[in-house]
Amino acid sequence: MPFRLRIEPSGHDLEIEADETILEAALRQGFNVPYSCRSGTCGTCKGRLLDGQVDYGDVDETVLTPADRESGLALFCQAMPVSDVTVEIKEVGAAKGITIKTLPSRVHRIEDLAPDVRALFLKIPATETLPFLPGQYIDILLKDGARRGFSLANTPNADGILELHIKRVPGGRFTSQVFEQMKEKDILRFEGPLGTFFIREESTRPLLMAATGTGFAPIKGMLQWLLEHGQQRPIQLYWGVRHPQDFYYEALLQEWTQAFSDFTVHKIVSRPDAQWTGARGYITEHILQDFPDPSEFDAYICGHPDMVFSLADRLRAAGLDAEHIFADAFVFAK
Ligand code: FES
Repeated sequence: MPFRLRIEPSGHDLEIEADETILEAALRQGFNVPYSCRSGTCGTCKGRLLDGQVDYGDVDETVLTPADRESGLALFCQAMPVSDVTVEIKEVGAAKGITIKTLPSRVHRIEDLAPDVRALFLKIPATETLPFLPGQYIDILLKDGARRGFSLANTPNADGILELHIKRVPGGRFTSQVFEQMKEKDILRFEGPLGTFFIREESTRPLLMAATGTGFAPIKGMLQWLLEHGQQRPIQLYWGVRHPQDFYYEALLQEWTQAFSDFTVHKIVSRPDAQWTGARGYITEHILQDFPDPSEFDAYICGHPDMVFSLADRLRAAGLDAEHIFADAFVFAK
């Protein structure tokens, strides 16, 4: 017998099986809720349990702290019901109608972007389509059942090409394969599109885009989408890397400064060499210095979890309403 899952404040009643997470039950019944990693590590799905009891699942105490649990919070990608439950979730509207598929794809092209970053262009079968929202991600399905999530760096297109930016992770099984063995025409299976990190197209607020490393990938997809749809909003892009040679797509950044009427890019290096004459340090500090009052922006943040969580907290503390902060924390799996 399934349990009842009530969603507040909308008052929807859904069914949830005892071996199903709250996130799985909500998605299965077409109710789109905020999530990203689905593995208990990013915190995007954290929400309030209003009534009933759950098994909290396998959670990292740095993501869901004991104090969080005390105050009624749970990770909905991990929590399973042990009674009827009522939770507080705000539905994410725009991802409705997007179907999550499991598909094979062929490696269409591989391009070196930076010393430790490769672009992988995958092509889905001609008989398939894959509508997605710019900024969403796919999970590459490895043969042993493991998954690796990568943001989509382009926009939906008639050729069925998906662009991923892959950073080499020392000792990483999948990324080693990408850098050492992968070749054109190899087949990769994936599931997607996934996640709720995508551009909110109905907004007209200025954009604060913040990325570290290959967190640039979904931001690229979003900016490309804005251009394709003739949407001109003032854009401040902050991109942080460790070493100057970690930046890529310089020509594209130049192109954007021409194509957008109000576009500024801030490139920031945390471990600069003697030749680097640009900005140094961490993007969080630069953003808060440049915009001590960020309240007018929509902020999109993607990259290492430490940066993502601390920047989101600092923006909130400086007056930006949480409703206008959209974040995706990367988890680098081996
Ligand atoms: Fe649940 Fe990442 S922690 S989606």
